[in-house]
Amino acid sequence: MIPDEIVQQVSDQADIVAIVSEHVRLKKTGAVWRGPCPFHQGKGPNFSVVPGKGYTCFVCGEKGSVFTFLQKRLGMTFVEAVKHVGAKAGIDVPEIERRKEGPDPREPMWELQATVGAYFERTLWEDAAGADARAYLASRDVSRALAETFGLGFAPRDPQAMRTQLATLGYSDDRLLGAGLLVAREETETVRPRFRERLTVPILDASGHTVGFGGRLIGPGEPKYLNSAESEIFQKGKLLFNLGRARHAIRKAEQAVLVEGYFDVIRLHSVGVEGVVAPMGTALTEGQAELLGRYTRQVVLLYDADGPGQKATFRAADVLLAKGFVVRVATLPEGEDPDTFARTQGSAAVAAVITGAMDVFDRKVQLLERAGWFADLQRKRRALDRLLPTIRAASDPVTRDLYLARAAEAAGIAREVLLAELHTVRRSSSVRPSSGAEARGRDAAAATGPGAPPTASSRSSGPYRSPVEQASAEADLLRVALTQPVWMDRIIEEVGKLEEAAAAAEGEGGAIPAWEDGPDPGAAFRDEVYRALYLALLDLGPEAAPEALAERLPASAVRVYEEFRGEPAAVVDARATVDGAVRKLRGRALDARVRALEQLLPLADGGEKDALTLRIKRLAEEKRALGVPSWGSVRRR
Ligand code: UTP
Ligand code: MN
Repeated sequence: MIPDEIVQQVSDQADIVAIVSEHVRLKKTGAVWRGPCPFHQGKGPNFSVVPGKGYTCFVCGEKGSVFTFLQKRLGMTFVEAVKHVGAKAGIDVPEIERRKEGPDPREPMWELQATVGAYFERTLWEDAAGADARAYLASRDVSRALAETFGLGFAPRDPQAMRTQLATLGYSDDRLLGAGLLVAREETETVRPRFRERLTVPILDASGHTVGFGGRLIGPGEPKYLNSAESEIFQKGKLLFNLGRARHAIRKAEQAVLVEGYFDVIRLHSVGVEGVVAPMGTALTEGQAELLGRYTRQVVLLYDADGPGQKATFRAADVLLAKGFVVRVATLPEGEDPDTFARTQGSAAVAAVITGAMDVFDRKVQLLERAGWFADLQRKRRALDRLLPTIRAASDPVTRDLYLARAAEAAGIAREVLLAELHTVRRSSSVRPSSGAEARGRDAAAATGPGAPPTASSRSSGPYRSPVEQASAEADLLRVALTQPVWMDRIIEEVGKLEEAAAAAEGEGGAIPAWEDGPDPGAAFRDEVYRALYLALLDLGPEAAPEALAERLPASAVRVYEEFRGEPAAVVDARATVDGAVRKLRGRALDARVRALEQLLPLADGGEKDALTLRIKRLAEEKRALGVPSWGSVRRR
């Protein structure tokens, strides 16, 4: 940092007119200088510079000091701007350590990562072991110069190579182990490198410290990409690949381009898109959005033109909107990713795609419209259910208003009706368990599944208590399945029927939008622990070995399994228990359908309203005939 007195001195002596004049044609009018505004590309003399003060544009409102001018126009950092102005004014601008307590304790960790990065790089270019990796880069059309810009390297297969090299530089195995670069294998007491046979992409934090690596296999295998393990200096959720290199360009263009992969970044950089960053193989996190927010409030999402890419686009958009970003979506031809597209189509085509980016909400509406989602009442309802969360997510009031108006127009519904809907947070009528697809399921470490960490509800001890109101029917079915396995087939059949009926009711409104996940198996079970247990039983059979079940179930579900198995006497009459449980679940499904139809009412016009009311009445009667209690928030009239 620069001492305050020096900043003040530079500011006092800065010749702002001379500096701005290098970029703008200024004319003196009285005490101020005027010219066309460089920020909104204005033509008239609306941009004024006041010596000793700063600049203002009367049209676009841009204003600031000589330093902000350089930051915004040239993408300099504050420190760079002060030095630049200082140099012109003949003032020596020293930088002092921010902290008086001495160097940052992470310094040695950064240094180690950088040293290993240099070793990987040498291996790639100078070692015989790097030949395949060099050929791989050539086959992907990555030149040596481009690879060097990004510091790409290669981690060889030989388990000793890195240790030996780094030992000569004075780094012990212990330090490499501590940094996660070597991994100990317990059984054999041997150590081996985390990255083997992988092209390495150094990951730098925004200030340019090497904090870790992404490693791509150059041959077939899984996982395709492996990142450094989480550590004090490497926290995926708070890093954006290429931010250090891109931040000036992002500031200057007042916009960041966000892509999915390392190679997308590298390729776009090579075709002249400098302000480009990527999350670290996981879905965009709040931390990453905040980080980006230090440089711009505008983002263009340029994700792979495939199903997962579209899903990831809208997820990232909601994260960004919640942080107040203006979010646009650039769309590539089906099946392309930015790397392939830029490689085959060139920089002009890429620039055109980015310029043609569309506001994320418009894009959502466009996709829904194209697929006929505003055609009838049911679909309209569900289309709105997809749009309302995005409107709610937008933290910027102007954006929200705009979105509200667009949704109202697209759906042909009065704005006031929609506004009322916006403030009604509904309980979803169908189960949508938080899917493990938080990322794109591409990062091995982030993937959930067998052996995944237990869910929050599983951490308490004692018998499992379902957080789902009235989940007793689900528990009953599992209890029977586990203590009297002959009933499993019957249970599967009944649950299957319930799920089919639910799907058919949903299907009245057509399929769900392409960017969402389809209905989940086991959806008849709302309790996630019970559902997990049911799915495991479905897969492995009710008499599966406890170890097999334990292996794929969270601890909480294993406890339920043990609890139910441990009380074989709890089920007296299996037939009656199954029948009763199924009746309750059927009742619950009918309640849910009634609720769903009730939600259509505000959107319906006269004739539609009558038909709806009639159907609601019929379903309610059907429900009553079952003679089971009502669950959940059925609105009584
Ligand atoms: P993609 O599968 O789209 O990779 O995943 P890509 O960038 O097109 O890869 P190439 O072109 O085949 O090399 C996008 C990003 O998701 C992360 C990586 O960051 C990748 O760049 N990813 C992918 C993982 O973290 N792990 C994986 O196994 C796969
Ligand atoms: Mn890709």
